[in-house]
Amino acid sequence: TPKLILDTDPGGDDSLAFLWLLSLVKQGLAELVAVTAVDGNVHARLTFAAAAKLLALCGYESVEVARGVIGGSEGDAEDAGDIHGADGMGNLSHTLPEPAQSYEAARYSDEVLIEKLKQAPGEITIIAIGPLTNLAAAEKKSPGVLRLAKEIVIMGGAFAAPGNITPEAEFNIAYDPEAAQLVFATCDNLIVLPLDVTRHVVFTPAMAEQVMEVAPTSPISKFVMGLCKFMVGTALAFRETEGQQGFLVHDASTLAYLFYPETLRFRRGQVEIEILGQWTRGKTLLDNRHKVKPGANAWVATEIDSVNLLALMIEDLKVLVKD
Ligand code: BDR
Ligand code: CA
Repeated sequence: TPKLILDTDPGGDDSLAFLWLLSLVKQGLAELVAVTAVDGNVHARLTFAAAAKLLALCGYESVEVARGVIGGSEGDAEDAGDIHGADGMGNLSHTLPEPAQSYEAARYSDEVLIEKLKQAPGEITIIAIGPLTNLAAAEKKSPGVLRLAKEIVIMGGAFAAPGNITPEAEFNIAYDPEAAQLVFATCDNLIVLPLDVTRHVVFTPAMAEQVMEVAPTSPISKFVMGLCKFMVGTALAFRETEGQQGFLVHDASTLAYLFYPETLRFRRGQVEIEILGQWTRGKTLLDNRHKVKPGANAWVATEIDSVNLLALMIEDLKVLVKD
């Protein structure tokens, strides 16, 4: 079973991806070594709380949650509380169990990343579904540490597709472009799921209903339904889904890569992060001029089978909500 660290800023789509991952843990298909919360969609204090609550909701409170490093290029991008809810989870956090872990007592995410990667070199995969601030902080403190990861699976970037936070840039990269640049410059074990593919993954209330049907009274299915309703509202308001009743679960594509790779196609290349551009800061670039060259740092997803991906996710969520 793969050993995983989830680096996340819940986040509506983070929350759904998180639950999908916990279902895979429940099925014995994954081991969750730690959750490193990161500052992003909402403040680090809130992403920590959301992560701890999701674990408590599903009975995995024993998994350590670390608190996000604050820093990077603060002020570059606004947070996304208007899309994900002020608490990062559709304003539903008050309906979830109070976790035992406290923000004040928690370790910082960079420290936990360094410790876990050094304990099991080559064994741990990092799933990074927020800004890359924690990863960059770990690399700065302990140069070379990110190369100890088996793989780093990143939701981020936009290549041919337009951005979502600026015309050219995607949120996770644009929130802390220097952090992203450091990660892309020091690693060659990167898997990138950009907006080009993730924008096709639309989770609808009808899908939440399918999960609800197998366990109507489960607090997890109620949460999935409530979150979906909230996120659909803001997705429509921000015109993210072209009027479709649903919301974009960008972050779930990382799990599809790890557990259902047949739903994705990739190309290998050298990804660079634009940090200087007046209009393009935070943009990801892939050198498409040549065939695969030695020295490339990433596999970048180019195609996605969103229909199958969503069907597989729903089946796994059903397993999670059933007793
Ligand atoms: C990414 O930005 C965040 O708002 C989402 O959670 C996702 O990780 C999409 O651009
Ligand atoms: Ca996210």
